[in-house]
Amino acid sequence: MSRENFAADSLELHLFFARIMKEHSLFLRAGFTPVNAGFAQRSERFAKEFEKLLCTAAALADGNIGGRVLDSGEIVTEFTLTAERQTERLTGLPIDSSITERELRLSRCKKETVSDDLICRVRRLNDRALELVNGLISLKEEIIASVDGCRIFTANYPLLIEHILREAKLYRKYISMPEKNGSLSACDVNDTECFWNRIMMEHAQFIRGLLDPTETELIRSADMFAGDYAALLQACGNAQSRSLAADSMAETRKFKDFKAAGAKGIIDCRIRSVILPLLADHVLREANHFIRILEE
Ligand SMILES: [Fe+2]
Ligand SMILES: [Fe+2]
Repeated sequence: MSRENFAADSLELHLFFARIMKEHSLFLRAGFTPVNAGFAQRSERFAKEFEKLLCTAAALADGNIGGRVLDSGEIVTEFTLTAERQTERLTGLPIDSSITERELRLSRCKKETVSDDLICRVRRLNDRALELVNGLISLKEEIIASVDGCRIFTANYPLLIEHILREAKLYRKYISMPEKNGSLSACDVNDTECFWNRIMMEHAQFIRGLLDPTETELIRSADMFAGDYAALLQACGNAQSRSLAADSMAETRKFKDFKAAGAKGIIDCRIRSVILPLLADHVLREANHFIRILEE
């Protein structure tokens, strides 16, 4: 792998995943009651640390990554800034939106060459990301064990905690890859597709369960998406990967539109739910990420 690709791939990885991890930490934090102040504090610390990591990644990314990832809607969407401001106001938890503003302005022109200094900084960033994600994985494991043992209460579904744990482990796998395997895309394409199909199915299940019971139309649509992804997931093990990829793509394009409409409806206060605006935007970005991977 070239130095240029190593730097760009690493930075693109962190722009997507460090933001995802910082938001997971915030969702965990928001789900705790005063009796679990310890877990709340630890979650908040990870939100802060991933925010710093993201801030560094955004600073280094300017002029060093291509437009494809920036334009995919996986880094920020048209809703991210508003969703952050609303979520900060609704929860009282601080969110540094200046990072989002900076990301919205990132240059789409990638420089031809990268300096030794940048490579060095990117390596340091990768090391720090690995250290942080290992810590967050441990915290998530501890939380899920405590929830399963009925020792703590949280407003987050147990499946949601397992789900964000799997996403953290995928991030860790990618961080450990570039220098060892030569390329970020060297991992099994089919595995990746099955992974994201499961994630999409679970998003549909969460959305279904977090909507107000009176939102019958939206609940029906979410159930339909969950059923479609369950069928795709069944096909995952055996189907011809090319036809499966086309089906996954078609389904995820529809689901992305559903999520975007949902994010807009929640931001505009037209949908009744217990979904934070930033969670609505978060699942939209993950769909955009999946679509970009499928396109490649
Ligand atoms: Fe996530
Ligand atoms: Fe997710």
